[in-house]
Amino acid sequence: MKKNEEAAVSPELLAALRQISTQHCLEEGGSHGPDHTERVFQNAMAIGRKLGARLDILAPAALLHDIGRSEESRSKGGVCHADLGAGMAEPILRALGYSAEDQAAICHCIRAHRFRGSSEPESLEARILFDADKLDSIGAIGIGRAFLFAGQIGARLHNAEVDHETTQAYSGEDTAYREFQVKMSKVHREMLTSVGRKIARRRHDFMEIFFAELNLEIYGSVLQAEDTQS
Ligand SMILES: [Fe+2]
Ligand SMILES: [Fe+2]
Repeated sequence: MKKNEEAAVSPELLAALRQISTQHCLEEGGSHGPDHTERVFQNAMAIGRKLGARLDILAPAALLHDIGRSEESRSKGGVCHADLGAGMAEPILRALGYSAEDQAAICHCIRAHRFRGSSEPESLEARILFDADKLDSIGAIGIGRAFLFAGQIGARLHNAEVDHETTQAYSGEDTAYREFQVKMSKVHREMLTSVGRKIARRRHDFMEIFFAELNLEIYGSVLQAEDTQS
């Protein structure tokens, strides 16, 4: 842990937040399990340090941002996990001794982390959490998560021949490539902080290279790459 992070959040508090977060996120598992939360936490802290954000707000917000996720899955999308998570976080934060003002600041980050509808990220910490969460859906890690998710729903490894606009999400045709075309390829334009934008651009470029290579390996000639060398 970095020095100013130590001052912002005590190791005991961090351990308590991690334990609560893991309890909720383990149930969700797969591409949204505790590993995702930990990466978002690390990304958020790194960006937060660079932009001079309040790490004492950002740390609990990042660790608790997806605690409503399993309830959203159970409701088959009927409830928004960001709204629900913010509501769930309030009594947790109160019990951990956060002031009413800090509870509100942390809950705002959680509620706005998807940036859907009216819940626009208004504070610097909320914009950082939004970027940190989105960054975990792109680049090498985004590709890995997309294939993991496709595996979870029994999709094919690759199928570039279907029309990605009409293919159903959460169906057997919902491949990682479709996810890239529909969502991941747009994320770099959605970033809300300068640091997030820079990291997203690099991750985007890597995904372009990866999927171009995948298409070449599957739809091109096996000798094509060799041919270009000779
Ligand atoms: Fe989320
Ligand atoms: Fe998330």
